[in-house]
Amino acid sequence: MPAPPWWQRGAIYQIYPRSFADSDGDGIGDLRGITGKLDHLQDLQVAGIWLSPIFTSPMADFGYDVADYCDVDPVFGTLADLDELIAETHARGMKLILDWVPNHSSDQHPWFLESRASRANPKRDWYVWRDEPNDWMSVFKACGRAWTYDETTRQYYLHSFMPEQPDLNWDNPEVEAAMHDVIRFWMDRGVDGLRLDAIAKIAKDPLLRDHAGAAIRHDEDWQDSIHERLRGIRRVIDEYEDRMIVGEVALDDLHRVVAYLEYGDQLHMAHNFVFINQPWDAEAYATSIADFERVAERTAWPAWFLANHDNPRPRSRFDHDGLGAERARAILVLLYALRGTPFIYQGEELGLPDARIPPGRVVDVDGRDPERAPIPWTPDAPGHGFTTAAQAWLPFVDDAATLNAATQAADPDSTLNLTKRLAALRLGGEQRMLSLGPGIVAFTRDDTHLVAVNFTDRELPLDVTGELVLSSDPGRTAVSASLAPSEALILLRR
Ligand code: GLC
Repeated sequence: MPAPPWWQRGAIYQIYPRSFADSDGDGIGDLRGITGKLDHLQDLQVAGIWLSPIFTSPMADFGYDVADYCDVDPVFGTLADLDELIAETHARGMKLILDWVPNHSSDQHPWFLESRASRANPKRDWYVWRDEPNDWMSVFKACGRAWTYDETTRQYYLHSFMPEQPDLNWDNPEVEAAMHDVIRFWMDRGVDGLRLDAIAKIAKDPLLRDHAGAAIRHDEDWQDSIHERLRGIRRVIDEYEDRMIVGEVALDDLHRVVAYLEYGDQLHMAHNFVFINQPWDAEAYATSIADFERVAERTAWPAWFLANHDNPRPRSRFDHDGLGAERARAILVLLYALRGTPFIYQGEELGLPDARIPPGRVVDVDGRDPERAPIPWTPDAPGHGFTTAAQAWLPFVDDAATLNAATQAADPDSTLNLTKRLAALRLGGEQRMLSLGPGIVAFTRDDTHLVAVNFTDRELPLDVTGELVLSSDPGRTAVSASLAPSEALILLRR
């Protein structure tokens, strides 16, 4: 058996660069800040780091509106800073992947400036222009329709997200070739792979038909063209060794997701959005896990995640009965124990909640500021080791004084130290779901380890024997006949 590829050997840690570490005191995180914190990631034994976009951008969507795909925005540093980050990451045995945003550019990208200049411009067809809009809506509710009228040439252009993010026209082969060249630019620089932003959107119904009355969506995931385009991307990636692409495939139908992974000629992994959307309920999780295994066990390697920069954090999402802290720890155990690659979003290893954002400090168009609060590295207000500025670009979470990384590092029972223990475990082998009673999600790994998670707030009987490997409950010292409320436990079977 050949050794598994690097992206199956450990967690991938998502950095949202604005909020990770600020090296120059402007209140916004940057690349040198990240390089200065690589020890933290090495301690977590991550296999790879995924950086949310660091490219030149007017920041309407904080980097997901790219004005130059092949340069670094000054707010984050320089290309030289990125080269240094890549080298330092590699020196520590970790990989680095970037966030490639192929569906749309910034409205300030030179391509769009040309495209909007006149109907006869050679780049006109690089974007999607029409006399009349159809009924497609922006993904962001606040943006309303997915079309904006442009006075200069008196037509509408398509934007699946903000008006500042015009959709590129992937039906035009010149666009596809240009975006392939972007991939080569970064692979040549030593980047180990890409996260593909909003990837289902790069193939739409070329006739731009209305949704109304249609059985399927017309504004994404379009028929054969999505798969042809993914194969094209993969061919470029395979010009290089040991690279990986993981897609933001935000579709609810697992069969559709698996269609992006089958046959080994499209994506290596796809984020499982069904999993992140589960309520705090044993049956919901068990079904979601079993469904993926049933649909994909032989054809696709799972990519599990519970948090990212677009979703409320587990600690807050599951806090309805004030049990968010315990639940966030328990679900972290589940995440690491599952067969597949766990994706960890910065701050998840600290069990951070969402931040409270006063109305005057809201900056995101889609309500995502709370999960983007800066990382508190130390107990010291006001900058918490994140910044020396008087104010960070977003407020810190409540309780940064206790939830910060330094305080947690010193506490053996902290979520940070639980995460380190989980990372060191590296459970392997087959996964088999078990039924240990209502309220419990349980499975074995390799027949040797048993994982059980209590999704209720009651103590539940546990009829298994074995040696305690770890528990999310700091009070536990041995395997007993019960599971504590919201406890996740891993044991070595006897
Ligand atoms: C993806 C990103 C999100 C961004 C959007 C538009 O969903 O994760 O943050 O706003 O694409 O690029």
